[in-house]
Amino acid sequence: MGRLTGKVAVVTGASSGMGKEIVTLFAKEGAKVVAVARRKERLEELAKNLSGEEGVVAVYPGDISQKDVNEAMIDFAVSEFGKLDILVNNAGIMDDMAAVGDFSDEKLQAVFNVNVFGPFYATRKAVNTFKAQGTPGSIVHIASEGAYKTCAGAVYCASKSAVVTLSRNTAYMYKAEGIRSNCIIAGGFKTEISGSMGMPNMEAYGKLKANLATAPAPGDPIEIAKAVLFLAGDEAGYISGAELAVDGGWCTA
Ligand SMILES: NC(=O)c1ccc[n+]([C@@H]2O[C@H](COP(=O)([O-])OP(=O)(O)OC[C@H]3O[C@@H](n4cnc5c(N)ncnc54)[C@H](OP(=O)(O)O)[C@@H]3O)[C@@H](O)[C@H]2O)c1
Repeated sequence: MGRLTGKVAVVTGASSGMGKEIVTLFAKEGAKVVAVARRKERLEELAKNLSGEEGVVAVYPGDISQKDVNEAMIDFAVSEFGKLDILVNNAGIMDDMAAVGDFSDEKLQAVFNVNVFGPFYATRKAVNTFKAQGTPGSIVHIASEGAYKTCAGAVYCASKSAVVTLSRNTAYMYKAEGIRSNCIIAGGFKTEISGSMGMPNMEAYGKLKANLATAPAPGDPIEIAKAVLFLAGDEAGYISGAELAVDGGWCTA
């Protein structure tokens, strides 16, 4: 029996990087998982590759910057698997590293739509689903060292600070219902996220280099999946409102 046997989870950003590793580990540990991202073919390949595991993966292609997608992916989990136990708000995109004097309106909108509005809509739907079920539930958010350090642009760093606050506020507000909310503070990882950056603002990037140089070698996204597995499941039943740095010690620099 796996550590998540009997649990139903929704994981966003499942088509690459950390999300793919989270879905993989959850399926190996027996969870029924709804894998969400825009690239349907990637999700289908992942589900196929995991078909021999104890858990089950169902794909839900969609753009989590849209409110209705966040709501529908959770309705889908309930209709497909009968309930929701775990939400992992993992999908995210980078900004172009720009300082506040230089961000574009388009970047601000795009990054906040995915990194902030998506998790807000999904979390609202999840807590109301847990309450309607009368079950405790667990939410894990993927934030970043950028919430505390100036290691990206103003827009990305502010979006991740918002995620930390969303997580803590949720943990406080739904204590009585047994709903837990925790946050991973991710350091640098080998994923595809730089592809979402576009052309970086070189002046800002030059300023950021000193901070980026304090980071240890990038981690393998499986390290994030292991931490999410712990926080999402019952082993962390007495942990809520926490921020767990998974960053090779970068938080100490
Ligand atoms: N890598 C790092 O160094 C690092 C550091 C700190 C924090 N993080 C955070 O870790 C999380 C995962 O990122 P990653 O590093 O694993 O990057 P990644 O490999 O680029 O994965 C990002 C995932 O998010 C999905 N996504 C992006 N926009 C979406 C949208 N509008 N709707 C649905 N899904 C969307 C992508 O899928 P589709 O393109 O198929 O939609 C992809 O599956 C993000 O929140 C990121 O900010 C990463």
